[in-house]
Amino acid sequence: MCGIVGYIGKKNAVPLLIEGLKALEYRGYDSSGISVIDKKEIKTTKASGKIINLIDKLFKKPLSGNIGIGHTRWATHGEPNEINAHPQQSKEVTIVHNGIIENVEEIEIFLGEKEYERKSQTDSELIAHLIDYFYNGSLLNACLKAVHILNGSFAVGVICKQEKKLIGIKYKSPLVVGIGDGENFIASDVAPLLPYTNKFLFLDDGEVTEIDENNIKIYDFQGNKIKRSVSVVDWTREQAEKGGYKHFMLKEIAEEGDAARNTLLGRIDDNLALQEELKWNTNFMDSINRIVIAACGTSYYAALIGRYILQNIAKIPTTAEIASEFRYENALLDKNTLFIVISQSGETADTLESLSYAKSQGIPTLSIVNVQGSSIARMSDYVLYTHAGPEVSVASTKAFTSQLAILYLFTLFLSRTKKTLNNQQLKDYTKELLKIPDKINETFEINLQKMQSIAPHYSQFKNYLYLGRGILYPIALEGALKLKEISYIHAEGYAAGEMKHGPIALIDKVTPSVFLIPPSSLLLNKTLSNMKEVNSRKGEIIAVTTDKFEKIEDASLVLTTPSTDLIFSPFLYIVPLQLFAYSIASYLGYDVDHPRNLAKSVTVE
Ligand code: AGP
Repeated sequence: MCGIVGYIGKKNAVPLLIEGLKALEYRGYDSSGISVIDKKEIKTTKASGKIINLIDKLFKKPLSGNIGIGHTRWATHGEPNEINAHPQQSKEVTIVHNGIIENVEEIEIFLGEKEYERKSQTDSELIAHLIDYFYNGSLLNACLKAVHILNGSFAVGVICKQEKKLIGIKYKSPLVVGIGDGENFIASDVAPLLPYTNKFLFLDDGEVTEIDENNIKIYDFQGNKIKRSVSVVDWTREQAEKGGYKHFMLKEIAEEGDAARNTLLGRIDDNLALQEELKWNTNFMDSINRIVIAACGTSYYAALIGRYILQNIAKIPTTAEIASEFRYENALLDKNTLFIVISQSGETADTLESLSYAKSQGIPTLSIVNVQGSSIARMSDYVLYTHAGPEVSVASTKAFTSQLAILYLFTLFLSRTKKTLNNQQLKDYTKELLKIPDKINETFEINLQKMQSIAPHYSQFKNYLYLGRGILYPIALEGALKLKEISYIHAEGYAAGEMKHGPIALIDKVTPSVFLIPPSSLLLNKTLSNMKEVNSRKGEIIAVTTDKFEKIEDASLVLTTPSTDLIFSPFLYIVPLQLFAYSIASYLGYDVDHPRNLAKSVTVE
């Protein structure tokens, strides 16, 4: 998705804008550009392709100015080329935009052909013309008028050659304000600003901010002034850097145990969970007799795990929904339903729209989000933040296990209130949950060594089946997604019991099957017999299991985890699968952190 960065202060904005755009690369883009105000003129340089092309241009023809905006563009309207790259310009006004304008024709009619000659194929250019149309000496007022004409989603950075101001506009697309010393910033998220500040103002939908080097004012779209408290984000730049690993993805898998620990920290006390954050009275708790969870991608697989534990441990009927399906279903949600959304970025359009639908039904909403101050977090009645730190790699890893940590905390919270676990069971559950971060770290160490040696063999296959039962079925789905999205090898997650209903026809010696062998006798025997069926058809088997069952004669490769209860096995079983996918993609030489066609945050539908 597009990335925005803006600066106003005493320094030359150009190097800061470029560094900011580099820190936004993970959002996925196909062109970039910057504009600065240089002695009452706006100077702009744009380039298609990677940011290095923009830097080359600036090297040949430098710019300087202490007010500026920058943009990395993920094409939605208009092909990825220089003309369509941002910033987009009008007569007095230049803008950068993240989102989609949905009433392009209406705006063109409003502006009238004579007024503005369209240069690009983008919807964003119209925002510049619209603000320019209303400009009469106050950039803020012009923006406050323009926003009432725009439909769709828009995070906009605006500069005008007549004014020493930087304007930010936020509606259904992310934008934060960074507070510096004698300088201020805007950006799509906190990461690009961490080198300069850890103090932020998070804008809500329907807000405009007017910034100069010493002042930050926030208004609603009606022009009413808004007070917003400063948020201090505890991420350092180092956290957002690679920390010595070859890719962010490997760094983030290595961080998984600590991310889970940080997410659990301070939220369990004497088998009591989330007491500080969820001060829900018993009437409210008793009223919840159904839970619906909506999410996309990896977060949806976390939702499937959530469904399993909430239903089996907290004994609450729970469904997990794919957000892009759910939002068009006009689902029946009654007042006794708790609606949960899960999102690492907190900006995924389909998840946001599902949340918005649930709110329109007047039911209580809870979000599980990693990015502090993100749109989903601010729209929900309650938010439980994962404390995974910035997850830069497009492939979600530590955010996933941190989402699980929140879901297991929430299950403990409900089980205690609804008395579905006795005291001993609560103690045992809490004890094992608190051991999980160390067991995740141990699983990483055990399997990392193996990965370098196995990649050459396993990277040659074109198709994989991933098979799991019960609580491990969602892990089969997530393991398959990891392989697909970074190594471009086809992989399909399946419920192991479904093999004989079709997929077994796929088995041959060039289609390996990855079996998740559950640490429990009931499911174990059935899974072992599934493996024999595959083995007898010359299918190669990779097994993931706890160290208790290390001897699996049918498997050509066994990836192990420390022992744990079946109910906690998702935390550990996913780690070897993340490493397996990573080692193959890395061995194949792919851009692991920026896989083709994918973006870290899908903020458009
Ligand atoms: C996971 O590796 C992918 N990057 C993708 O499926 C992702 O989980 C999905 O787009 C949801 O993103 P979110 O958690 O930020 O809402």
